Amino acid sequence: MTVCLLAEVAAEQAEAASGLLHLSGASGVEIRDGEGLPPPGVAPPPRGRAELRGYFEAISDADAARAVLAERFGASGYLEEVREELWAESWKSHFHPLQIGRIWVVPPWIEADTPEGAQRLVLEPGMAFGTGSHATTTLCLAALDRLLEARPGASVFDVGTGSGILAIAAAKLGAGRILATDDDPIAVRVAGENAARNGVAGAIEIAAAGAEPPGLFDLVVANILANTLVALAPFLLQRLASGGTLLLSGLLAAQADEVAGAFASLRELPRQREQDWMLLSFQG
Ligand SMILES: C[S@@+](CC[C@H](N)C(=O)[O-])C[C@H]1O[C@@H](n2cnc3c(N)ncnc32)[C@H](O)[C@@H]1O
Repeated sequence: MTVCLLAEVAAEQAEAASGLLHLSGASGVEIRDGEGLPPPGVAPPPRGRAELRGYFEAISDADAARAVLAERFGASGYLEEVREELWAESWKSHFHPLQIGRIWVVPPWIEADTPEGAQRLVLEPGMAFGTGSHATTTLCLAALDRLLEARPGASVFDVGTGSGILAIAAAKLGAGRILATDDDPIAVRVAGENAARNGVAGAIEIAAAGAEPPGLFDLVVANILANTLVALAPFLLQRLASGGTLLLSGLLAAQADEVAGAFASLRELPRQREQDWMLLSFQG
């Protein structure tokens, strides 16, 4: 069953609130801010306000997201059940091809030629996070592209793989060993399907979080909520090879110092920001 979390926030907070819904497990988010025409029969939100609709597969995730919105933005949201077939089609209209570095992310229903020099990554996110269009994913993809260009064959650990986008990109960019994990069984399944769709299933080990095979990695990337990154710090530090690079995203600019504090044993590299979102990089 799909559940929609509806909430109203100040228009200037809509992007940040939408990102938090994505990171809280929403499989899609719509923003209605009165800029475009509302659907027929739907009143636009009041001036200066934006209406958010976050779509979730689990009521528990939607409820947790509602609490996060209330805490951060003072928004009182409510939940509504959605007819599956309407939602399954509607999110597709928001997913367009996207080029980040040498990677070209494209949904399976678009048959366009791959730009010259780019690697085609066909992605059906299904109910898992990661179409490449979220700023945190874009930041991680761009960083992986740069790092793997400088260090071909480097091993990669993608913690919180979602749709599998970063692990698949790593495979396309010539990484060595690749391990991808998630604590959501749906993500583990979808990531496996996407790896197969891209012909790289044999190159990626996919495992449930907590049941990871052993090993150290040259690149460890985790695009997860700030509090989870802090909680996972000992584990992430343990899995980073000496001289390796740790990439952390999923955090807002305002949370960067707090998250960086949990990784103070590493040398921090320059931070990167897109909209309100940050990518932190560390050298092991
Ligand atoms: C924001 S999504 C990132 C997806 C993808 N890596 C990307 O960059 O677009 C975060 C993912 O982390 C997973 N996750 C959350 N907590 C986790 C944990 N403790 N261990 C592993 N995965 C976790 C979620 O299920 C979700 O699929």
